Amino acid sequence: MNFEQTYEMMKSKLGRILPDFEIKYKAELAVQINQLKNEKNAIILGHNYMEPALYHSIPDLVGDSLELSRRAAQTDKDIIIFCGVRFMAETAKILNPSKTVLLPAQKAGCSLAESISANDVRNLKKKFPGVPVVTYINTYADVKAESDICCTSGNAAAVVKSLKSQTVIFIPDEYLAKNVAAETGKHIIFPSRKPRAKKDTVLDYQIIGWTGRCEVHEKFTVEDIENIRKQFPEVLILAHPECSPEVVQASDFSGSTSAMVRYVENSRAASYLLLTECSMGDNIAASYPDKEMLRLCSVRCPHMNEITLEETLQSLLKIRYVIDVPEEIRIRARQPLERMLAIS
Ligand code: 13P
Ligand code: SF4
Repeated sequence: MNFEQTYEMMKSKLGRILPDFEIKYKAELAVQINQLKNEKNAIILGHNYMEPALYHSIPDLVGDSLELSRRAAQTDKDIIIFCGVRFMAETAKILNPSKTVLLPAQKAGCSLAESISANDVRNLKKKFPGVPVVTYINTYADVKAESDICCTSGNAAAVVKSLKSQTVIFIPDEYLAKNVAAETGKHIIFPSRKPRAKKDTVLDYQIIGWTGRCEVHEKFTVEDIENIRKQFPEVLILAHPECSPEVVQASDFSGSTSAMVRYVENSRAASYLLLTECSMGDNIAASYPDKEMLRLCSVRCPHMNEITLEETLQSLLKIRYVIDVPEEIRIRARQPLERMLAIS
């Protein structure tokens, strides 16, 4: 698409939420990126948290971690540009190692991925020998390499059920683990925080959790929800499962980022509030102009926000930042990811 076509396409989506000069500026960047993408035989994968102009202009696929992992595993393009965070780009490299995988920002980390090390997992396995380890995809490759199976927010309960095991280790998100425990009717403990209560026997606990948290989703409280419901009695509230179980319970729906998009698309509420990274509200407002979205724009993921159109252009021009995973770790990390993809 040339500049005029790109600008018109972006204006039709973003004209209600962005000023025209910003759309023009970003359309110029998008044209350059899309040209280079074709010249270099690249695919751009964009997570649902990307800012609206990027989200609506350059990705070949937008989605949640599960959808993007699937596409990364299948693509035959030479270069995968991951507009997301490092653990997502690493996952793409693990699943499709012959491709050049680029992350447009040098760090773009994640508080959950930082919360646990491979050594922590080895210690948990020593403490609970033989108990299968379910690892959230928001972790680094060396942690995945110590695991039996991975999961995402879109399939966590299904993965736990698929193991047909009385007990599982579920790492590293404390709140996701609690939400999965509630959904699967399992009792949960956190051995790293508290000694086991006297009344617990080995069979009393069925999920062994870890105390990592998402720095974005831990901010939402039940009090926020009560206040919002007072102010907007007809609002439908959707919470990501990285929110606390109390927040999830007080909401009307909980699911992965793409599950939230689909839920809004298919329901007819007067207005919606998403308890998650706030670009999602903008992106849905742009895609579905008939939906009234409330925003909580103080809640941003600083890591996802490092990915911009400017950085993506530089990434393609300079072929930076290349994501590599040591082969010995990659081979071991691939198994739990493939097991997850096979069951979901
Ligand atoms: P999803 O897999 O639901 O897109 O979540 C990824 C994430 O990092 C949420 O904070
Ligand atoms: Fe990590 Fe939370 Fe950001 Fe998602 S929103 S990438 S879990 S810090």
